[in-house]
Amino acid sequence: MSAEKKKRIAVIAGDGIGPEVVHEAVLLLERLRETHGVELELTHFDWGAEKFLTEGVTLPDGALTMLAENFDAIFAGAFGDPRVESNKHAEDILLGMRRGLDLYINLRPIRLLAERLTPLKNLKSTEIDFVVFRENTEGAYCGAGGFLKKGTDDEIATQEELNTRRGVERIIVAAFDYAQKHGRRKVTMADKSNVQRFGGDLWQRVFREVAARYTDVEANHQYVDAMAMFMVLNPAQYDVIVTNNLFGDILTDLGAALQGGLGLAASGNIHPGRVSLFEPVHGSAPPLAGKNIANPIGAILTAGMMLEYLGFDDAARAVERAVRVSIEANDTTRDTGGTLSTVEAGAAIRKRLIK
Ligand code: NAD
Ligand code: IPM
Ligand code: MN
Repeated sequence: MSAEKKKRIAVIAGDGIGPEVVHEAVLLLERLRETHGVELELTHFDWGAEKFLTEGVTLPDGALTMLAENFDAIFAGAFGDPRVESNKHAEDILLGMRRGLDLYINLRPIRLLAERLTPLKNLKSTEIDFVVFRENTEGAYCGAGGFLKKGTDDEIATQEELNTRRGVERIIVAAFDYAQKHGRRKVTMADKSNVQRFGGDLWQRVFREVAARYTDVEANHQYVDAMAMFMVLNPAQYDVIVTNNLFGDILTDLGAALQGGLGLAASGNIHPGRVSLFEPVHGSAPPLAGKNIANPIGAILTAGMMLEYLGFDDAARAVERAVRVSIEANDTTRDTGGTLSTVEAGAAIRKRLIK
């Protein structure tokens, strides 16, 4: 994608700390116009818990078509509010965009930006540097299942998992393509095929088939329970991980912890060549909301990922550099050992944006 014409971004701040961290990311994007000539047109949408509670609207009618036709990317904060126990609005808006826009790649980099941030002992920052390709449109997130005899002692709840040949293949291909293009040595697939005999079998077969087409990339498999252990004991072994929707969700919170916490983790929900959605890995963190203490780095690094997706490579690198330097100077929020507020931490990064 070329960075020549003005890119149009839909901004959905969402709930809880979403608006606070999105605000810092937006100020940074605006500063990049001066420092790097990044031309963006931002349009804000008020979708989230408040709109749902007052108007009954989650993802408005026609929203997906509107996003696909009028925008190059979507930048979101977080969705989730204690007042909405069912989580219906988050499901409609977030999962609605992931599924409805067919954003089949959830790309979640796990990178240690400074040694002091990891809770693991005696690790160099280069030893935590991998990316997770989380399947993002099916698996346990397909919403299939139901109740029988709900509310009785004989109640039955089923929760199904959907694995399509096409869906499994395209995420595995994306992981190998990425490895090849980015000089990564190895793709590790995580599943639970020793128990999940049907879905697991499909993933195993497709993984072997796709791996055979990429002779220059090593293919490796681990059961997901073992991977959770090895991510803690020996994270240096990973380059690219590919896995299903639910395992990817769980492993990337663990990955976020390895790199210093959820406040630092970035993600992109991507369908190459189409409008794609960028959001920090963390949620709305209700205990932190409205206190000006949330870490804006996850959102800011997410903005960096979005810039790279849109073709603004220099600006994307500058964002990461500014974040690194701020962390080195301990100009961060409390969760990462600093003393700054959200607003101060955002400003500390912006002032370090240099051409
Ligand atoms: P969460 O990610 O919101 O927060 C868990 C904990 O991580 C927080 O209490 C806090 O200690 C820490 N944390 C998260 N973000 C941080 C930040 N920016 N700075 C500093 N610390 C941070 O997860 P949760 O508490 O399980 O979920 C809260 C709500 O968010 C739920 O409604 C959940 O469904 C939703 N959620 C939404 C998304 C999303 O929109 N993408 C992602 C995860 C959770
Ligand atoms: C994430 C979140 C979401 C998910 C929730 C909020 C639906 O945890 O983006 O990781 O499970 O995918
Ligand atoms: Mn999650």
